[in-house]
This record gives sequence, structure tokens and C-alpha cells, in this order.
Amino acid sequence: MKGLILSGGKGTRLYPLTFTSAKQLIPVGNKPILVRVIESIRDAGISEIGIVIGDTGNEIKKIIGDGSRWNVNITYIPQVAPLGLAHAVKISQDFLGEDRFVMFLGDNVIQGGISPLIADFADSDYNSQIVLTRVNHPERYGVAVLKENGQVEYLVEKPKEAPSNLALVGIYMFDKNIFEAVRGIRPSWRGELEITDAIQWLVDHDYDVHAYIHRGWWIDTGEPGEMIEANCRVLEELEYHIHGYIDRSSEVDLRVMIEKGAEVINSIIRGPAIIGENTRIVNAFVGPFTSIYHDCLVENAEISRSIVLENSQIRNVGRRIEDSLIGRDVIIHRSPIRPKSFKFTLGDNSVVGLLSE
Ligand code: G1P
Repeated sequence: MKGLILSGGKGTRLYPLTFTSAKQLIPVGNKPILVRVIESIRDAGISEIGIVIGDTGNEIKKIIGDGSRWNVNITYIPQVAPLGLAHAVKISQDFLGEDRFVMFLGDNVIQGGISPLIADFADSDYNSQIVLTRVNHPERYGVAVLKENGQVEYLVEKPKEAPSNLALVGIYMFDKNIFEAVRGIRPSWRGELEITDAIQWLVDHDYDVHAYIHRGWWIDTGEPGEMIEANCRVLEELEYHIHGYIDRSSEVDLRVMIEKGAEVINSIIRGPAIIGENTRIVNAFVGPFTSIYHDCLVENAEISRSIVLENSQIRNVGRRIEDSLIGRDVIIHRSPIRPKSFKFTLGDNSVVGLLSE
């Protein structure tokens, strides 16, 4: 079996973080979402993985490389424009050949333990397997209607009125018949070749499409709140170790990971939380549900339920920072220079939430 990861798209809802970098590379629990996806596919016993890339392809290549760090072999497949998931399958045919494969969206974060399901598809008789889960807002996703016996009756992409609450999770398994399906469909109203339509084509042509209902959590990350939520869920599942240094005047909960080279000085860390490599936490309060990435400094500050990317500094901030997604190389500090005012240097599309009086 092979793996295909879709990692194109512009990530507009995460601007300014994604102006220059791919949203799939934003870490949750201090690990880029894309790396989590690669590991899930690898753990299903798959070593040949294609990654479909768009505008942010160079950054993805720089971080993921040839995949040898994860014991997989990566092939990059450029997509000229985000023309749909079924279009991505179409342009990957040379790479996929006749093999059965799993297609995984590079921005989906799912509860651990999905790998055996993928591995089982290798030896099954199904032509396709889709993963469904019950959601509150099915109209935001592809939606499936099942017959009483569990077989797929029909599928519809982002319907105005959802006929069921079963959403299509961004993990799909196919055999080679999908190539005929993607050739047999036309672009949707949003100008994309929809994978939902291609699966409907398989159903209409009597191919065996099996629906698996996932009962754990699943997050399709598109906006900051979803990233923070995914971070919380992933932190709850982590195995915790202390590889860095904690001084005697600090208080660190059990469910806290301190990565190598990190230092915690005179601080309190509430789990679940993770402190990245070479990051320093000094006279500070961190957590719960907080991931601070590598090479950061949090000093005389408090931060909860947030994600901080690499090389950022939070110093001498009088109020607690909460529910925040803070990018790379950001500095938040109290300025000693008068007048006593807020001083911002913010990128386009930044969002600053000040206290209400
Ligand atoms: C895509 C699919 C949709 C699926 C969703 C899962 O939506 O078209 O059927 O439910 O991924 O993440 P998109 O992210 O393109 O809006």
C-alpha cells in the first residue's frame, strides 16, 4: 500500500501565520501536524508516501526532506493550483500506479490509533473505505447517508441542509478504480474536483465503498481556535518525559513534557503542557493545555491554553495570555519607554485581543 498526503492550500484562515509558511507545519503538542500524519501512515506499515504540495511546497520540502527521519520515502507531487482533492488524486496516478493507497489530508488531526484501520485495508476486498464521524455542523464537510445495513447510500459535499450528521473525515482509502472515478466527474460549484463526487461515482458504479465510523475525536484544523483545540486534545494523549532541567523552586505537574535543553526556573507549570528544546521558563506560570516550541523565552509572564512557535519571547507581561496562537520570532514584552501606551509591530491580518475595560 502507498500513502498520499495533501498539503497544498493557502491556509487563509490562519493568516498571518500562513503567509509565509504551510499550515500543515504548525505544531500541536510540539509536533507539526504533517509529521503526525506521516507517522500515522508509517505506523500502518506504509513506507512509500507522496505529498501533494502547492505554494508552500518549498518550506514543506525543507522540513520533511526525503522522509528518512521517519523511515519513509517521500515523493513530492506539485499541484499548480488547489483544484480539489480528486484533482490531487488525478495528478498522483504515476506515483500511485496500481497500488491500494490511503489519502490523508495534511491538516487533519485525529485521535491516536487510526493506523490499524489503514493497515487492514491493504488486505480487504473493499474498493474504497471512508472514515465518518458524527459532528455538530455537518454542513461544513462532506456528508454521508448510510443504509440501515451500514452501506453507503449517497454522499454530498457541504450541503445547505445536511441529510445526516456523519461527516467525511479527511482519511480515505482507495484501489485503482478511483482513477476512473476522478476522470468521470466534473468540477463542483466551487470549481474543484471533489473527492466526495468521485466516491459517489464509485457507489453509483457498484464498487464496494465501506464506511467506518470513527468514535474518537477528529479536528479539521483551519482557524486558530481549531489549532488550539487540536493542541489540547493531543496534549491529553502525550506520554510525558522530563529531559530538561527544573530548578528546586519550580513546581511542575506530572503531565508536563520538558524537552532536552529546556530550563524551568522558579516557575509553575500545570499539565498537560510541553516545553520545547532549549526554551527557558523563568519566574513564570505556564499551562494547562499549552505548547511552547523550541528556543523560546517566557519570563515574568503567565500563559495558558496556547501555542507558541519557535524562537518567540514573552517577557514582563502583567496579565495572563490565554487562547492564543503566537507565531515564530514574535516578541511580546512590556516596554520601558514612555509614553505608557501599546506599541505594536503587527503583520497583515494579525489579531490582537485587548482587555475589555
Ligand atoms: C474536504 C472535503 C470534505 C471533508 C473535509 C475533511 O473539505 O471536501 O468532504 O469532509 O475535507 O477535512 P475542504 O477542507 O476542502 O473544505
